[in-house]
Amino acid sequence: MTTPSTIDTARALLADASHIEVFTGAGMSADSGIATYRDAQTGLWENVDPQDMASIDAWHDDPDTMFAWYLWRAHLARQAEPNAGHVAIARCPKTTVTTQNIDNLHERAGSKEVVHLHGSLFEFRCSLCDEAFGEPIALPTAPVEAITPPSCPVCGGPVRPGVVWFGEALPQDEWNEAERRMSTADALVIVGTSGVVYPAAGLPLMAHAREIPIIEVTPMRTELSHLADVVIEDTAANALPSLLG
Ligand SMILES: NC(=O)c1ccc[n+]([C@@H]2O[C@H](COP(=O)([O-])OP(=O)(O)OC[C@H]3O[C@@H](n4cnc5c(N)ncnc54)[C@H](O)[C@@H]3O)[C@@H](O)[C@H]2O)c1
Ligand SMILES: [Zn+2]
Repeated sequence: MTTPSTIDTARALLADASHIEVFTGAGMSADSGIATYRDAQTGLWENVDPQDMASIDAWHDDPDTMFAWYLWRAHLARQAEPNAGHVAIARCPKTTVTTQNIDNLHERAGSKEVVHLHGSLFEFRCSLCDEAFGEPIALPTAPVEAITPPSCPVCGGPVRPGVVWFGEALPQDEWNEAERRMSTADALVIVGTSGVVYPAAGLPLMAHAREIPIIEVTPMRTELSHLADVVIEDTAANALPSLLG
């Protein structure tokens, strides 16, 4: 349980900040009904380790199965609504967002300056020549075992989801902007990330080195909790409206 005084202490730490960077992970969207990484085994993919669906090797082995899985996740994300936490962040004029999430719920809540470290479920590109694929892709409304990806109009290669898989580099521009914000923000709010996926999980360390106030919102302590001045042990939808409102 978060006592009012925990929130009050955190609010006081944010009071003088004119730029608050909010760093989010899958737990940010849990209150919108989107499974966090560890809980992502649903339906058809009950026995699939989500990590097996997040590597370039798996894509080479079986693109049709992986494409179907990502399109299904895009469908689930499109069906979901931003929660009160996303809305509180978007309404607070002091915030910008760096997210590991690929569900676009921050934008849909109204946040404008969102850095996407791990890409988006709604962007596609060629897996051979990297050309962005702009044609509409129909999303399945029920889980399907396999969907053949469309072919790239430039080189004929298979089109892939525009997300970052394990072993792949993060998009350079997004990474640079995330680093810039960690080196300039007046305060950092960390929400719903276990802090185990690198290099993203290293970003809060940069803010910590500058000794700016750090608040964490998470129902359970994480690998990043030791960096925080205040840990609000609550969900994003519960805590953020009172923290940022
Ligand atoms: N929504 C999405 O876009 C989505 C979904 C699944 C996975 N991913 C990917 O998963 C990777 C894993 O890292 P991660 O740290 O983001 O996720 P993670 O699943 O490793 O950690 C989620 C964290 O959120 C916390 N949490 C759970 N419910 C919460 C709630 N209601 N409010 C606040 N916090 C809550 C958990 O205790 C945990 O610490 C990321 O690379 C991300 O790209 C994204
Ligand atoms: Zn191509």
